[in-house]
Amino acid sequence: MNEYHIPVLLNESVDYLVIDPDGIYFDATLGFGGHSSLILKKLSDKGRLIATDVDDKAFDFSKQKFISEDRISIYKFNFSMIDVIAKIESIDGFDGIIADLGVSSYQLDSKESGFTYRENTDLDLRMDKSIKKNASDVINELDEKQLADIFFKYGEEKNSKKIARLIVEKRNSKKITKTFELNEIINQVTPQKYLIKSLSRIYQALRIYVNDELGKLKEFLENGLKTLKSGGRFVIITYHSLEDRIVKEFFNYNSQKSLDKKIDPFGIKALQPQIKIITKKPVTPSEEEILKNNRSRSAKLRVAEKL
Ligand SMILES: C[S@@+](CC[C@H](N)C(=O)[O-])C[C@H]1O[C@@H](n2cnc3c(N)ncnc32)[C@H](O)[C@@H]1O
Repeated sequence: MNEYHIPVLLNESVDYLVIDPDGIYFDATLGFGGHSSLILKKLSDKGRLIATDVDDKAFDFSKQKFISEDRISIYKFNFSMIDVIAKIESIDGFDGIIADLGVSSYQLDSKESGFTYRENTDLDLRMDKSIKKNASDVINELDEKQLADIFFKYGEEKNSKKIARLIVEKRNSKKITKTFELNEIINQVTPQKYLIKSLSRIYQALRIYVNDELGKLKEFLENGLKTLKSGGRFVIITYHSLEDRIVKEFFNYNSQKSLDKKIDPFGIKALQPQIKIITKKPVTPSEEEILKNNRSRSAKLRVAEKL
């Protein structure tokens, strides 16, 4: 545990992941090294861990944290590039891949990271600061319908159309660049008792869009499956229904015996099952964990093994 982030479902996820102490593992979301620390504890001297994170603060912190640890290599790459990282490291296959999706508590709470709606900061929401368009660009450049669709699709916000309309009205007189300017717009169309929920939903929607979180997750799962060894495991923790659905459907699809014409009309894939699902139902945090760390409450852990 460290001051920046409390790791979620730590023992459960790492117990599922590390099945060979001499193996090679991939931590797709290094963050502040909570899961990586426990993985390293379970590995022998021969074991290796490759880890990545796109966030500058997480990368710098963890580089320092593991400075005298020879068994870990740390990258600042999007996790969708897992296959590229495996090539750079000359790794034939991983014995396990873990992803603890979403953002860290540091990203959510700190003013500098530009994720919090509780402080008046630049509207940013990029995990990877090299991405060209930040949340302010999105808010000021997309048309009303596109904005409403983002709020509805990625935030399940009922007032999506009203909020989008007011954004377009306001930005005609002045560009919207600060979190409190956006909050004020959401405030104007949302009943007070739902305000916090709406703020969370709109910021979640923008974050998912700005970082292409769902697209990157799909690429990561596809590329990750190619880099897993037979018997190697995918261990994925999700925090909202959109990402959980993608993981669930990916596992279901790739564990099927025969073609399902409905989801694969051209019969391109899945002639043979490629994985078996280990967790029939997702593992969720205990009441005790939720009491200690309220942010763990929405977590769902799914595990599958490559055949
Ligand atoms: C929930 S935190 C992980 C916390 C970590 N397990 C720990 O215990 O400290 C998620 C991390 O994943 C990173 N992240 C999210 N999407 C990413 C992506 N597509 N590629 C690389 N890192 C990503 C975020 O920057 C964040 O640091």
